[in-house]
Amino acid sequence: METDVVTIDGPTSSGKNSVGFLLAQKLGYQYIDSGSIYRAGCILILKNNISLQDLEKVVNIFKNLQIEINGQRFFANGEDATNHLHDPEVTKIVSAVSAIRQVREATKIIQYQLVNTHNTVMTGRDIGSEIFPSARHQFYLTADVKIRAQRRFQQLVAKDPATKFEDVLKSMEERDLGDSTREVSPLRIPEGATVIDNSSLSVEATVEEMLKHIHAQN
Ligand code: C5P
Repeated sequence: METDVVTIDGPTSSGKNSVGFLLAQKLGYQYIDSGSIYRAGCILILKNNISLQDLEKVVNIFKNLQIEINGQRFFANGEDATNHLHDPEVTKIVSAVSAIRQVREATKIIQYQLVNTHNTVMTGRDIGSEIFPSARHQFYLTADVKIRAQRRFQQLVAKDPATKFEDVLKSMEERDLGDSTREVSPLRIPEGATVIDNSSLSVEATVEEMLKHIHAQN
């Protein structure tokens, strides 16, 4: 039997992860944040001191990447990478690395393998548009950039009180621009996706809205 995939795409800090996780729980599906796959590869690039100019080595990291997901823990090549996925050094290189065509090809194979045996909610930038274009339930989640920056700022300032809102906003605008203008699989609204602006919606309210769409389409 073919597995069911619900896709959620959207820009950074649009609430995809919290929403995707809760939606998966409500549906009894596994949850996969595809950004974590790119981030896990970046952790290994940094750990092995690989230069981003060394395309072959960068791509090989992704070709050999083994991902396992156990609840909220994310394992890369057997090691628990969960606590390092959002390290600032990782965030700094992830957009450039994920813009490499061969990296995306290798990651696509990992994504197909991960949904092979489980119904899945998957979040990312190109999940509805490129990876699972025939998925029945596709969403595009967004929110005003200042609100998204405020959400990210609150997470970061809790770890580092010296964090400045202006820097967070600037880095978010740069990442939005990079993700939506890159040549390979740019961030865009998948054809037929339901667009939800959650600038003033809670995670729970966003998930309720999605469940209404899913049940109406079933
Ligand atoms: O969602 P998150 O911020 O963790 O993703 C990190 C980066 O990985 C994004 O800025 C984007 O460049 C890349 N990404 C991607 N395609 C996906 C998921 C993430 O290009 N499906």
